[in-house]
Amino acid sequence: MATTSPDPDAPAVRFPPGFLLGAATAAYQIEGAVRADGRGLSIWDTFSHTPGRIADGSTGDVACDHYHRWREDVALLADLGLNAYRFAVAWPRVLPEGTGRVNQAGLDFYRRLVDALLEAGVTPALTLYHWDLPQALQDRGGWAERSTADAFAAYAEVVAGALGDRVPLWITHNEPSVVTLAGHVEGKHAPGVSDLRTAVQVAHHLLLSHGLAAQALRAAGAGEVGITLNLYAVEPAGDAEADVAAAGRAHAVVNRWFLEPVAHGRYPAELLAWFEEEGLMPAARDGDLDTIRQPLDFLGVNYYTRLVAAAGPGAVLGYRDVGQAGERTEMGWEVYPEGLHQVLSGLAREGVAPALYVTENGAAFADQADPDGRVRDPRRVAYLDAHFRAAARAIAEGVPLRGYFVWSLLDNFEWAFGYTKRFGLAYVDYPTQRRIVKDSGRYVREVARGEP
Ligand code: FCB
Repeated sequence: MATTSPDPDAPAVRFPPGFLLGAATAAYQIEGAVRADGRGLSIWDTFSHTPGRIADGSTGDVACDHYHRWREDVALLADLGLNAYRFAVAWPRVLPEGTGRVNQAGLDFYRRLVDALLEAGVTPALTLYHWDLPQALQDRGGWAERSTADAFAAYAEVVAGALGDRVPLWITHNEPSVVTLAGHVEGKHAPGVSDLRTAVQVAHHLLLSHGLAAQALRAAGAGEVGITLNLYAVEPAGDAEADVAAAGRAHAVVNRWFLEPVAHGRYPAELLAWFEEEGLMPAARDGDLDTIRQPLDFLGVNYYTRLVAAAGPGAVLGYRDVGQAGERTEMGWEVYPEGLHQVLSGLAREGVAPALYVTENGAAFADQADPDGRVRDPRRVAYLDAHFRAAARAIAEGVPLRGYFVWSLLDNFEWAFGYTKRFGLAYVDYPTQRRIVKDSGRYVREVARGEP
């Protein structure tokens, strides 16, 4: 059945031997079972249960029921021919109160999952924080408190103690920029705070917690250690000086705020000037930036789209994202594969880490199962094909890209959008929890197997 590259004349996409081709998920988006086996509550439980926060009024209470269906999902990965899987551990399953008491049942769940992955020949990549802070810690101030960074390092040590010998890739944080901006500036994500000063402090503690956790992971003998940042190709909307300046600010805010501290041990000068001007300078201690700059074994890159910046009213952070004409996904994100090549090449030139992984890339479309049971998603096939080609081109030019994780293995709970956005390589029929491999899943399988 033809589900191959949208351009039949183009040579098939090929990744080098040893390349990790996988799919990614996050705990709160797929697990469900929020009360099972001693799991504590997270800020996303609280947030999703607050009326008006989630587009379709849904929660992650059941999600994809992965907590009970993980065997089936491991089999799905293998069936898709994938040799890697990026998943996240839910902090409140392991430490229900965020600190102190360890919940062995929670750790056991991830140990079983990892063992099954290894048995299936699927390399696990583990994310420690994909946004589900234990509510108990939020009650004490959350990431605005320095003690949360210490709690995170202690959590990292517990997980590394249980899984350090069998998980080769460790990601401390997923997209701290989104935690900062969506969670603490726009208030669209948990914990739903809208306060610039708090956000700047939160960002500092997220960064600090990365450094402390990286130290803890290394001390525990865990595998390779990195962090995942969401990075954008940034361009000015026009030639006007104000738009060019807005693009510079956008680049500093969305790309450099986290990249520069973790890679070089400094905040971008432009951000520092802004903090200074606005009286936003975060409380920090001597040596924090040295702690934040731990050697990175790899950098994880989440790439989805480009940001087109303009100056103008309502630009709280100094820019407005005005977008660009062109094809868009259901998220309203422009399809811009060239940007992935641009971002990867820039990171390689800068030498931020000896290895890079695309830890997320994918697209939401309004999929449906046809009467014959098949899910035809040609636009996602085209999206992935174009982005794979951009990555393959970067590799051919010498960029040390070692793996690529498609977002996502399954349709799932898309945060503030609830279940209204489908990103999966497999379609989830929520009433029955049946997984149906989409045409894009078949396409990825062909790439994984080196066909046609
Ligand atoms: C990223 C998140 C991931 C998913 C995708 C669509 O920002 O890391 O959980 O929601 O976007």
